[in-house]
Amino acid sequence: MHSLIDLRSDTVTRPTAAMRAALAAAAVGDDVFGDDPSVNALEARVAALAGKEAALLLPTGTQSNLVALLSHCQRGDEYIVGQHYHTYFYEAGGAAVLGSIQPQPLPVQADGTVALSDMQAAIKADDVHFARSRLLALENTHAGRVMPEGYTAQVRDLADRHGLRIHLDGARLFNAAVASGTSIAELAAHADSVSLCCSKGLGAPMGSVLAGSGEFIREARRWRKMVGGGMRQAGIIAAAIDHALDHHVERLAEDHANAARLHAGLIALPGIVSCVVHTNMVHIELASAERGLALQAQLRSAGILIPAGRTIRLVTHLDVSAADIDRVIAALGEALGEPVT
Ligand SMILES: Cc1ncc(COP(=O)(O)O)c(C=O)c1O
Repeated sequence: MHSLIDLRSDTVTRPTAAMRAALAAAAVGDDVFGDDPSVNALEARVAALAGKEAALLLPTGTQSNLVALLSHCQRGDEYIVGQHYHTYFYEAGGAAVLGSIQPQPLPVQADGTVALSDMQAAIKADDVHFARSRLLALENTHAGRVMPEGYTAQVRDLADRHGLRIHLDGARLFNAAVASGTSIAELAAHADSVSLCCSKGLGAPMGSVLAGSGEFIREARRWRKMVGGGMRQAGIIAAAIDHALDHHVERLAEDHANAARLHAGLIALPGIVSCVVHTNMVHIELASAERGLALQAQLRSAGILIPAGRTIRLVTHLDVSAADIDRVIAALGEALGEPVT
């Protein structure tokens, strides 16, 4: 009997036995009082890792991004953002709903970036008709794509010329760091703030760490409390993340190798219209959404979970081995050989 292989996301990982042991042994206190030694140590560790003055542990990536936007922008301000970036498309409009911050979404290019010329054109003049452009929101990796080298430096230059700030959604910045051989601090150097998720490739059960200047994090701490993210004995989470930082960062290279292995096995299969791989994500395009739906059901009966749709994202992670990938390739080959009924 094979175990289930879940390729829907890298958020599906379960804490390892060693992580559970670290979590159980954590020293804890009340973090809202600033008394949790494990949280305090983790925040200091991640601040140093990100090359920033301070950091703050939050329960989720969405809250981390929201708190960053609330901390950078006032009511009536605007953030300029890729229209498929998480901070615009997948966060339930939180910045607009809760912060009265207007998003200015822009097209995302094939390499995952927003064109500098589009950003430049979208920055508003100081005029009573317009929202105040305040922030540029970036994402690395986007759909698995590592941001091209030098791009954030150019965005920084643009931001400085217009007095704007930069927030980097680095939900998968560790994947970018491992894939590019660049440190987290270097990747985040040009951003005023960076949000790092720990419940994706790193395999912690929850948690995201936001890093920035001391003043920014003081402000973010207040917003985190307001949106209900002030946790108490959060040291158990900090300990899981600390364990992940020790043991689950370099191994992301295995996830990238497994994604490349999957891509190599799928590219030649009949029925696959296109197939691309970036870090731990493989995106396949099928002839129709019906084919995608059928494929999902076929793979489910083989013990493999994938999303449905005409374009399908398959994500490798801690709980997927090279042998699992071979099983997926064989199952997909078999399923695609069958007609859609
Ligand atoms: C790029 C990106 N940013 C932020 C998030 C939000 O993370 P969470 O699910 O912890 O709220 C995700 C989640 O998948 C993501 O993919």
